[in-house]
Amino acid sequence: MPDLARPLALVAGAFALLLGLPAQAQSAAEPPSSEAIVDAFEAVLGPIRTHRPSHAKGTCAAGHFVATPDGTRLSVAPVFNGQRVPAVIRFGVGVGNPAGPDTGRTTRSLSIRFETEAGDIWDMANISAPIFGSPTPQVMVQGLLARRPDPATGRPNAEAVAAFIAANPSTTNQARWLAATLPPASWATTPYWGVNAFRFRGTDGEVRHIRWVFEPRAGTQRLTEEQMRSLPSEFLADELRRRVAAAPVEFDMVLQFAGPGDDLTNPTVTWPDDRPRAVVGRLTVTEVAPGPGGACDPISFLTLDQAPGIEYSDDPTLHARTGAYAVSLSRRLQ
Ligand code: HEM
Repeated sequence: MPDLARPLALVAGAFALLLGLPAQAQSAAEPPSSEAIVDAFEAVLGPIRTHRPSHAKGTCAAGHFVATPDGTRLSVAPVFNGQRVPAVIRFGVGVGNPAGPDTGRTTRSLSIRFETEAGDIWDMANISAPIFGSPTPQVMVQGLLARRPDPATGRPNAEAVAAFIAANPSTTNQARWLAATLPPASWATTPYWGVNAFRFRGTDGEVRHIRWVFEPRAGTQRLTEEQMRSLPSEFLADELRRRVAAAPVEFDMVLQFAGPGDDLTNPTVTWPDDRPRAVVGRLTVTEVAPGPGGACDPISFLTLDQAPGIEYSDDPTLHARTGAYAVSLSRRLQ
């Protein structure tokens, strides 16, 4: 353990005891195990065996991805070979309850499994906000545990939540962004950000730190306040079915390149808008499942790397994702 880490862990442990939380989950230094992460979701939501603990509501879709010449130049990964790559897709709503509303000020999601003809698989899960709600997996677990329902009231302990937020102010960045941004009018009319930084290795051998966003070719359209009140809690899936039946829905995959001083490891902050960008591919959605279930249901979108073309950055939340998603899936399939 580094010199500073132990005192920090002790302070965090003392803080945990004050809040009545298990000290182990509150260690500031040690990343939580994948099991501890999923346990923390279950501490808030109860045992989850039928749906995802995050983005629980979703609809399966399918389509394909084709890299642009810039994409082929910027990544040597097979998915950017310029051929048509089939895609299993899931559109989701960032709620813990699969019956949660489509109209809330939460994130929407676009998860994609690419599978090349040669059998190379690349997974990703993107959200309709440019930032995430936790700077590290440790803080994510602490935030979940702080929101556990109090057995006496069935509600989170307000003092524990306030103390957690005071100690971790960056965890409110995403909520403030969502409060200031109306929800998407359609799954087809919002950008979806990958949020975490990755390293792309191009055909020139150069490694570039990037973040990506899927930009809707239909443009960005948001609900009005009145629609948020009047629309039914289920409308996104039918709207997408109607839209795709009329014409494929398309997104451009756009890379944003890190500049000097940009934070490469903290997903609660954005990079400046004027950073250079490149369109590296187009995702085309051609089918939407007629109802619940489908090819996206029994899989998890594991946020994989594709070394050497697409490698993880040093962002600790990125490193926590694959294992946690796998544990979550294994509990769902039990
Ligand atoms: C500490 C970091 C993170 C942890 C521990 C974590 C944990 C999880 C878990 C356990 C699931 C359920 C997976 C399943 O059951 O299949 C999930 C789903 C999801 N997460 Fe994360 N997550 C993290 C970071 C992020 C970030 C930064 C994003 C932003 C892009 C994100 C977006 C999503 C989406 C969109 C889903 C739903 C995927 C689907 O459609 O199946 N997560 N997350």
